[in-house]
Amino acid sequence: MTKDEFETLLVHGACCKDDVSGALTVPIYQTVTYRQGELGVEPPYDYTRSANPTRRALEKQIASLEEGKYGFAFSSGMAAIAATFFLFHSGDEILISRDLYGGTFRLLESHFKNFGLSWRIVDTVDPVSFEADFSPQTRAILLETPTNPLLRVSDIEEVSRIAHRNGALVIADNTFLSPYFQRPLTLGADIIVHSATKYLSGHNDVLAGLVVIDDETLAEEFLMIQKSTGGVLAPFDSYLLMRGIKTLALRMDRATGNAQVIAQWLSSHCAVDRVYYPGLESDPGYELQLKQASGAGPLLSFDLNEKHDIKKFFAALRVITPAESLGSVESMACHPATMSHASIPAEIRAEMGISDRLVRLSVGIESPEVIKHDLEQAFKKDRG
Ligand SMILES: Cc1ncc(COP(=O)(O)O)c(C=O)c1O
Repeated sequence: MTKDEFETLLVHGACCKDDVSGALTVPIYQTVTYRQGELGVEPPYDYTRSANPTRRALEKQIASLEEGKYGFAFSSGMAAIAATFFLFHSGDEILISRDLYGGTFRLLESHFKNFGLSWRIVDTVDPVSFEADFSPQTRAILLETPTNPLLRVSDIEEVSRIAHRNGALVIADNTFLSPYFQRPLTLGADIIVHSATKYLSGHNDVLAGLVVIDDETLAEEFLMIQKSTGGVLAPFDSYLLMRGIKTLALRMDRATGNAQVIAQWLSSHCAVDRVYYPGLESDPGYELQLKQASGAGPLLSFDLNEKHDIKKFFAALRVITPAESLGSVESMACHPATMSHASIPAEIRAEMGISDRLVRLSVGIESPEVIKHDLEQAFKKDRG
């Protein structure tokens, strides 16, 4: 799909008109159940946990944006990821990419492990070493690219080739780039998961998760999981998410432009030891990012130099909000060690390369000069 086609789809796609009335926004079908016709004849809608017209419009929209056939909407990114893990059975193994969202790690370690689903961390950035990690029990590999929080880039095509050769599915968490910049199904992935709470919604006012699948058999299984587990997205939240999606291109362009400016500025700043951003030519993931995505995205991370005090730095921020989340119009700073990745034990965090001095910046759509100024004044106040 070309950029023009994608941008047209954002504002004219499935979420942008109501076939019943012609309204330019899909109505909020705030109903749990539906009148049934003739007994024994399956109606299009019977109960909102199974399907709802507002949610259905969103599900069609995300499927078309990801160039897949089937979309599923959940009440959070974690509900979407949990539903995906229900595809597997006791005795199966899932490989996960080296640094990834702490909640995904916790879900596997604290919950699915109790049902006999095992997991192992692998380095998907290095496809050669990674092939040796498959075992006869491996059923899937879950990867984030770029990863959270170190923005490491994996080759989705190569990972998919290796996974398929070993009989495993590829689950790609596409939260960080959104389909505006990267469409993993077109690169060989089998299942896309999203925390739509982030860039897709974009305004910090809805918690949502999405899944997109291309394969019909897998999608049928998934539909049953969605209906059985029941963590579906409410009609009002589906409406909010559709509204956010319409401006995805504008927000992503502006925030990514800002991130590029900030990353370049930080990379020569004496308060910063290292910047992690695949939009920088010096970044190890730069070439690959250019090959498989059309932008580096609005997220970057950096290690604060040890002359600076991380607590004072966060306390000194005035415009940038210290917060767990990312992907909204306002800039937010996260301290992975105590926020997003606190559920990962310190020794595993250290192995993953997530230091206590790491700051993850979700760059928003404010003026880049204002963001820079805020960081600069915080660096001046935070000398340890
Ligand atoms: C990459 C990634 N995946 C999944 C999630 C979980 O999403 P949610 O918070 O919507 O449950 C997050 C949350 O930060 C995330 O960053």
